[in-house]
Parts: sequence; C-alpha cells; structure tokens
Amino acid sequence: MVDKQMNDKVAIVTGAASGIGAAITKQLIDQGASVVGADLNEDALTTLKEQYGKAFHGLKIDVTKEGDHVKLVEETVSTFGKLDFAFNVAGANKTGTILEQSEEDWRFTVDLVLNGVFLGMKHQARQMKEQGEGAIVNVSSLNARVPMYSGAAYASGKAGVEMLTKNGALELARYGIRVNAILPGLVRTPITDSFTSNEKAHKMFMERIPMKREAEPDEIAGPALFLVSKEAGYVNGASLIVDGAWAVSGYPDLSLL
Ligand SMILES: NC(=O)c1ccc[n+]([C@@H]2O[C@H](COP(=O)([O-])OP(=O)(O)OC[C@H]3O[C@@H](n4cnc5c(N)ncnc54)[C@H](O)[C@@H]3O)[C@@H](O)[C@H]2O)c1
Repeated sequence: MVDKQMNDKVAIVTGAASGIGAAITKQLIDQGASVVGADLNEDALTTLKEQYGKAFHGLKIDVTKEGDHVKLVEETVSTFGKLDFAFNVAGANKTGTILEQSEEDWRFTVDLVLNGVFLGMKHQARQMKEQGEGAIVNVSSLNARVPMYSGAAYASGKAGVEMLTKNGALELARYGIRVNAILPGLVRTPITDSFTSNEKAHKMFMERIPMKREAEPDEIAGPALFLVSKEAGYVNGASLIVDGAWAVSGYPDLSLL
C-alpha cells in the first residue's frame, strides 16, 4: 500500500490497546490517519498516546455499553472533526461446552462479540450518514464458519457479526457507507496465547493450517485497511477470510500418504 494514503482520514478502532486493534492503529497512523483508540485497558491507551502524540486520542470504553459508543463518536468528531472509518475489533471469549457453560458466561461472550459490534456500527453509521460517506470493518472470525469445541458462544456471536455486516451493507449503502467483515484464522495475540504457547495445541493447529504458521497481527491489519481504502470502493457486504488457507484444509492431507 502507498505510504500516507490515509492522510487526513479519521478512524475509530475498538480494541486498540492490544493485538489486531493495536496493529490496525499503527498502520493507520503510519499512513497518515488520525485514530481514536477505544478500549477497556486505559493504561495501554495512555502508552499509545505517548507513542503516537497528536495523531492518537485514547478513550476508555466498554463496547457493550451504548452510551460509551455515543461518547466515542462525539469525542472523535470534537477531537478530529469527522469520522471516515471504523474498525470494530474488541473481543474476548469465555469458553465452555454447551452442557456446562453458565448463562452468565454465554451472555458475557455474545454481548461483547456481537452486541458490542451492533452498538458500535449504529453510532458510527449515524455520523457517517451525516457526512455522506464512510467505511466500517467488523472483525469476525473463521469461527463464524467453523465451530470450536467449547466455543459455542464465541462462534455463534462471530457468525452473527458476519450477518450483521451484510445487513449493514444492505441498509447503509444508500448513505455512501460500506460495511465489510474480516474473518481471521489463528493470529498470534494475547487471546490465543493458550494455543500458541502450548506445544500440543500448537501442533494440532499446524496440522490444519496449510501455511504451517499463525498470522502476525499486521497480516490482519493490512487486509482490514484495504477494505476501507478507495481501491476497495466497490467491496461491500463482503467477508474476507485471512487464515493461511485454513478454511480450505478440511480434506485429509493426502501428501502425507
Ligand atoms: N487472535 C486470533 O487468533 C483471532 C482470530 C479470529 C478473530 N479474532 C478477533 O479479533 C479481535 C481482536 O482480538 P485479538 O486477538 O487482537 O485480542 P486481544 O486480546 O489482543 O485484544 C482485544 C482487545 O479488546 C479489548 N476489549 C475486551 N473487551 C472489551 C470491552 N468490553 N470494551 C472495550 N474493549 C474491550 C481488550 O482490552 C483488548 O485490548 C477479537 O474480536 C477476536 O475475537 C482474533
């Protein structure tokens, strides 16, 4: 991507304090954008402010609270004058099998993963509608398409994000707003630490992933930035799988015979 092609652009990134959100934030700022990073982790946002200076504004929010999204959009406009792009990245997972998972953990996960994205999109899109254009990227997961043992709440929430994205594209295209989803496979971040640092689990994943490695957060951030770029001007309601060919690896690996 051409350097500084995000000059004068203003973006919201939820989950900006860590992993994929932090990588999206860095790439946006490296390319000239101003970013409002929203996260529960206030200390990490303070560190990012020290790192990026005036191109970055941090706001502590809980993405499951509608009022926090209202404040986030208001602060974005009062700080940087407008809102061009939004990346709904914040997420986490409380695992449990269907037989064992508590209602509380189920609700926590679905509330964060799915409802948090709906509330974000609603208020981001209201501002973009006023401006007559905008682009939103929602981070779903390969688990929207592939179930995960002990991850019913997460996978169901992520499948919901994929459909919410398509509904967003359908309803918002008339206002010049594009909405797309990104479906990452395995990415090296704190959320997957228990998989990537556990030798047995890591080996099981690598047997499935044809590229034989996890993604770095930057390898998800690049495609996410593409989806808001003018080169992707006709890409709308799409789901971009970024998984090192994991999704196409269901068939036994006959090369091992
Ligand atoms: N890492 C992977 O392999 C992977 C794969 C597919 C999808 N994803 C998705 O990518 C997104 C980012 O994940 P990551 O791997 O970078 O994880 P991460 O843990 O590094 O980052 C998630 C961030 O979200 C923030 N957050 C959590 N709950 C919040 C809330 N209620 N309000 C505001 N902020 C909150 C956390 O503080 C954290 O900074 C998540 O939606 C995750 O489900 C990750």
